[in-house]
Amino acid sequence: MTSEFAVEMRDVVKKFITPEGNEMAAVDHVTMQIKNGEFFSMLGSSGCGKTTSLRMVAGFEWPTEGEVYIEGKAMGHTPPFQRKVNTVFQNYALFQHLTVYQNLAFGLEMEGAKEDEIKKRVGRALEMVQLTGMDRRKPKQLSGGQQQRVALARALVKTPDVLLLDEPLGALDLKLRKEMQLELKALQQQLGITFIYVTHDQEEALTMSDRIAVMSKGKIQQLGTPVEIYERPTNKFVADFIGESNFLEGKIKSISQNEASVFVSSINAEVVGLPISKGLVKGEEVIVSIRPEKIHIAEKDAINQNMFRATVTNTVYIGVDTKVFVDVHGAKLKVWEQNRISRLDPKSFYTVGQEVWLMLLPENTIVLRKD
Ligand SMILES: Nc1ncnc2c1ncn2[C@@H]1O[C@H](COP(=O)(O)OP(=O)(O)OP(=O)(O)O)[C@@H](O)[C@H]1O
Ligand SMILES: [Mg+2]
Repeated sequence: MTSEFAVEMRDVVKKFITPEGNEMAAVDHVTMQIKNGEFFSMLGSSGCGKTTSLRMVAGFEWPTEGEVYIEGKAMGHTPPFQRKVNTVFQNYALFQHLTVYQNLAFGLEMEGAKEDEIKKRVGRALEMVQLTGMDRRKPKQLSGGQQQRVALARALVKTPDVLLLDEPLGALDLKLRKEMQLELKALQQQLGITFIYVTHDQEEALTMSDRIAVMSKGKIQQLGTPVEIYERPTNKFVADFIGESNFLEGKIKSISQNEASVFVSSINAEVVGLPISKGLVKGEEVIVSIRPEKIHIAEKDAINQNMFRATVTNTVYIGVDTKVFVDVHGAKLKVWEQNRISRLDPKSFYTVGQEVWLMLLPENTIVLRKD
């Protein structure tokens, strides 16, 4: 029987005893369901439990509580080699004294595959990662990106249903990393293999993933598509961790089924018509979150609603955007304006001390629970 889900973690906890003798939960009640053929990423800063989660799926660690399922089967203490997953580790650990061919053939030989079969499969795996013809080289005779591809091919040669990748592009420079991101994504789509990808790089996760689990301190903070996570973060941590945001503290003044008006004390004004998530109540202290590129600067008060007088305190031209820092009644906000037209006239940019109007569009302004 095949399951809808390639991999599931159900309420998984992993506790470690630290050398200091304390117990700590590296993974703290994590539940996630990864669909067949999905590119799924775990994203979070160092120490949040990404590698530990991946190692439990691979079978190198066992959960303290909860269960890992692969294709619907509870894994219990099933050893790694009996799980239909393969791992690409961060420090890809190629055998330096073996050729590319031998690196790939090694795992198949261990399985007792015949020579003809090995040749065919190694050839196909090298083709997938575009390294045909490099099979006699040793790792040292390859660039970093090529070595990374050998590591990938070595995992692919065993035709796993699920590939686990732990920061596989971590060692590459930015340009190569971006190239490899697109290549990996294309390869995943072409092969239809489920990828579980670990990274601490938000842009990488947004670029490659069908869905992302944003993690912090062993817990999932939000799980959703890149667009959901960026456009509708469900808490301040996610809004802050992915991209940039302005945060304003406020109190819900009135609320209907799907809209709220929030009084923001720092700017001494009410922001109206904001879409809300379930469970917020009138009078509740909240945080209003808005991304810097979603605030509009206007010369005058055009709509008489959600527009606030502001003073420009600084501007930074960075080519693509101009970063405009403003002060609204003492509250500091940042606004990114895209430089759509090319101009050299300094007068066409905002100047420090200039008075402007800020416009907050309700659909871009999010009300978050204060936690
Ligand atoms: N074997 C272990 N014994 C004790 N503590 C551990 C062990 N392995 C991991 N930890 C702790 O568990 C936490 C999570 O570690 P993990 O390696 O999963 O983090 P990570 O999200 O992969 O971080 P990074 O981005 O730095 O690789 C860390 O605080 C780490 O120190
Ligand atoms: Mg890690």
